[in-house]
Amino acid sequence: MPTEFISLTFPNASTEVSPIPNAAIDPDYLVRYARSLDDYNFNYTLVPYDSSSYDPFTIGATIAAATKNLKIIIALRPNTLYPTVAAKALATLDQLSRGRVVVHFIAGGSDAEQAKEGDFLSKEARYARLEDYIRILRRAWLSADPFDWASEHYTFTQFSNRVRPANGSSIPVSVGGSSDAAYRVGGALADIFGLWGEPLKETREQIDRVYAEAERAGRPPTDRPRIWVTFRPIVAETDELAWAKAHRTLALLKAHRANGQGKAPPDAPAPQNVGSQRLLEIAERGEVHDRALWYPTVTATNARGASTALVGSPQTIADSILDYVDLGAELISIRGYDNLNDAIDYGRYVLPKVRQVLEDGGR
Ligand SMILES: Cc1cc2nc3c(=O)[nH]c(=O)nc-3n(C[C@H](O)[C@H](O)[C@H](O)COP(=O)(O)O)c2cc1C
Repeated sequence: MPTEFISLTFPNASTEVSPIPNAAIDPDYLVRYARSLDDYNFNYTLVPYDSSSYDPFTIGATIAAATKNLKIIIALRPNTLYPTVAAKALATLDQLSRGRVVVHFIAGGSDAEQAKEGDFLSKEARYARLEDYIRILRRAWLSADPFDWASEHYTFTQFSNRVRPANGSSIPVSVGGSSDAAYRVGGALADIFGLWGEPLKETREQIDRVYAEAERAGRPPTDRPRIWVTFRPIVAETDELAWAKAHRTLALLKAHRANGQGKAPPDAPAPQNVGSQRLLEIAERGEVHDRALWYPTVTATNARGASTALVGSPQTIADSILDYVDLGAELISIRGYDNLNDAIDYGRYVLPKVRQVLEDGGR
């Protein structure tokens, strides 16, 4: 499989470095952003989920209508949609987009965030429910024959799904997280496993954990989850200019958080999800890791979401990405802080460099 690139969907011009308070969806911006990703040959865009934010399915349908090749990754928390409904919703979007849908499952990393939408299960139980959920969706996509289900979390009888995926049988399933339960469920069931950008050594360790769980579940090496790694590149013409930009970006992140406009409130408690805890622990060990992986953006945002930067010229960013490709990452998620302009810069100057090296047979 070739190396593929992922971005994140933004519904308006608000960014972390230039926030627009209470910005509504800007349909023109959404379409312009999505078309830019398509034009610059990004392969996917993730439509994220948050209890207080927009509905990913309608955003995804809008992107599908405005683009040709871009695949749409719908982030989905099982507590928000009954699995039979989700199976049909995803298959509907898959048909509308002619087979461009991926689903990214989020078991839920924060009890408080889950409680906002009525989910009071423990994290272990949330992962057990996710396991059930994936099995139900796969079964519902496979055939229209009616089937019964009876498990701890879901019981129904004679469900028949006549809304099938575009390929007739399946939609790629992604799982993200860094806890033991995430490795177990994702290793056993996912087509794609999503990670946040950690140093090479720690990323290698996480990949090994996912592969070990896949093997334990009886999957052969030819059927392991494809690995997705996420970064926030800060790119400029030279390394020196990029570092200056990185420090300007960091100052803005800190200022916006202090005045209540950051992604995390100034007094945010320590995060409960293991992925964020790992990022904060690594941040304590040093600011720069490996070639150009920068951690102060992690601390400044309380590791709320993907937050490790890669800083440098397009060549440095491309070389850093190739370090992860060499480790086995096949999907590289890159999004910046100045969202649209950064996506265009990556599309012009970074993606072609990485692809050229890979086309020439690697380093
Ligand atoms: C690539 C990637 C994308 C993610 N997207 C989302 C998202 O859109 N919404 C969300 O609430 N959590 C998202 N997460 C967070 C985790 O999936 C979530 O915190 C997980 O349920 C529990 O994390 P843990 O297993 O590391 O403790 C994402 C994680 C990764 C690695």
